[in-house]
Amino acid sequence: MCAVRLISRPMQQDGANILGIETSCDETAAAVVADGKIVKSAVVASQVKLHEKYGGVVPEIASRAHVENIYPVIKEAMEQAGVERGDIDAIAVANQPGLTIALVVGVTAAKTLSFAWGKPLIAINHLHAHLQSAVMAEDDLQLPAAALIVSGGHTSLYDYRSPLEPQLLGSTIDDAAGEAFDKVATILKLPYPGGPSIQKAATDGDPAAIKFPRSMLGRDSLDFSFSGIKTAVLYHCRGQNMKGENRVDSMSRQEIADIAASFQAAVVEVLVKKTRRAIRRIGARTVLLGGGVAANSALRAALQKMCDGLTPATKLLVAPKQYCTDNAVMVGSLAYYKFKAGLFADLTLEPKASG
Ligand code: KG4
Ligand code: ZN
Repeated sequence: MCAVRLISRPMQQDGANILGIETSCDETAAAVVADGKIVKSAVVASQVKLHEKYGGVVPEIASRAHVENIYPVIKEAMEQAGVERGDIDAIAVANQPGLTIALVVGVTAAKTLSFAWGKPLIAINHLHAHLQSAVMAEDDLQLPAAALIVSGGHTSLYDYRSPLEPQLLGSTIDDAAGEAFDKVATILKLPYPGGPSIQKAATDGDPAAIKFPRSMLGRDSLDFSFSGIKTAVLYHCRGQNMKGENRVDSMSRQEIADIAASFQAAVVEVLVKKTRRAIRRIGARTVLLGGGVAANSALRAALQKMCDGLTPATKLLVAPKQYCTDNAVMVGSLAYYKFKAGLFADLTLEPKASG
């Protein structure tokens, strides 16, 4: 089994205990969360080592690793939380969107436990759960919020007025932001996963060195497109006719740092400008940021600067770093609102690629 890392210390307190399960991509995760806020345990078995030689997630390998990890991860989450089946009030699982052959492992485990333990089953949208990571510690959430999810598979903006029904305002028409980071890292021959590698390389680079394209898709659009910038990086490395070899091997460290910094600056600028459009469109009082790319320091800083500069200033809530990438705390936390509303799934629940 892959290494299981504990990403939060268990806390003891009574309440509605929900066991959350997450297997939408390449992390097998389980957590026990009480009342949507109190993290009693959080366990993640990462598959990074399995996928790194391919430069991306291989669905079949991910699915097999989930099968291997799911039981030990759930067991560890229960033990770390100091709870037994009788203490659990509901089982929640991310059933969409994601890789169906990965999702099915978590969904099957959750259905089995729900049936065997006689506990209600709650279906969770993985992207809505990412938003929950940003709001779960906030006691005074001012709505509406403009919510940005930037992950390996998705880039979406929402009009957020309640945890259960975020309304989609726009999304990517091609690559997701995280996917662009990963692909550009591959072009630059930086280690997988690409996002953290690009961020690290960019630290010593000049963000103004190369003017990569910023695709805004028209004045009012809240959709995103990141495939053009990825291609622009490729052209930059192979020459405009694409006939040359990738020059990366002969580039200096500084040249690579400049490309990484310039690429990151272009992506961040687009994300910030689109978020500002969304704020204006819906009159947002808060901005939420979640998903793997939300761990990016340049993005966090630029969004903070933009929010501080607005009149009136708009509060930015960002997911804590350990809950930016995939985890089950966000699943267990969001499920609390469905639990309170009596919104349960039944044993016919299936995984869905989209959603
Ligand atoms: O949310 P997530 O764990 O998985 C999906 O639901 O897709 O996001 C993973 C993505 C990867 O593309 C990874 O490269 C990116 O998040 N990522 C980052 C950073 N940390 C992770 N991208 C930019 N900067 C980072 N520091
Ligand atoms: Zn995710």
